[in-house]
Amino acid sequence: MSDRQKTHAAAAAFDYVEEGMTLGLGSGSTAEIFVRMLGERVRNGLNIKGVPTSDQTADLARDVGIPLLDVDHVDQIAVTIDGADEVDGRFQLIKGGGGRHLREKLIARASDLMVVIVDESKLVSTLGQFPLPVEVDPFGFSITARQIYQALSKAGVSKPDVQLRRKGDGLDPFITDGGNYILDCGCGEIPDASAVDVGLKDLPGVVEHGLFLNMARVVIVGEDHQARVMEL
Ligand code: A5P
Repeated sequence: MSDRQKTHAAAAAFDYVEEGMTLGLGSGSTAEIFVRMLGERVRNGLNIKGVPTSDQTADLARDVGIPLLDVDHVDQIAVTIDGADEVDGRFQLIKGGGGRHLREKLIARASDLMVVIVDESKLVSTLGQFPLPVEVDPFGFSITARQIYQALSKAGVSKPDVQLRRKGDGLDPFITDGGNYILDCGCGEIPDASAVDVGLKDLPGVVEHGLFLNMARVVIVGEDHQARVMEL
């Protein structure tokens, strides 16, 4: 993890920002760097509006002076800029390390373009080293956890490890902005992300999982001295 790399990635994302746009504002430390830079541009006269993907991002955006739109009053989102926990060569992502992937996915899906900003540590050949976050309804979450285990096994994950995410105190469950739990699913490797996507979507207790497939069209990788822009 490198703040320097994240800063290079965030700065390069401005190539996709134009006057008058409505922007989806991602969550996490890399997106946060972008939001701070965006605030500076707004203070210098850039006219954009933001749609935040988490309460945390909304608070930060307000602090740095970015005008925000209510998600239910948005006609069109031009570009969403967001981080990721893993990115593979086909621009498939794992997100949700911060537990915000439901809103992140909703906003990214509603955008004309999703630009992902990451440091080099996020690039992988096969997804799955980072535990896959799955947001679930708290009701019956133990049942859902068992079903997720079975779905992951069926999708080719050899030994899934499904764990309830807890708050920093290690006792209480972590609660998402939407009031749900997160099950972090250790996979080791995800040989077929589409099969996992289909298997998890079939479970009634699953609200949303952290696989972002066919969504990112641009990935910007921050390096030590520059940023590398990759487009699909
Ligand atoms: C938030 O839930 C996540 O999807 C983040 O976008 C992801 O965890 C990347 O965060 P960092 O930029 O802090 O690594």
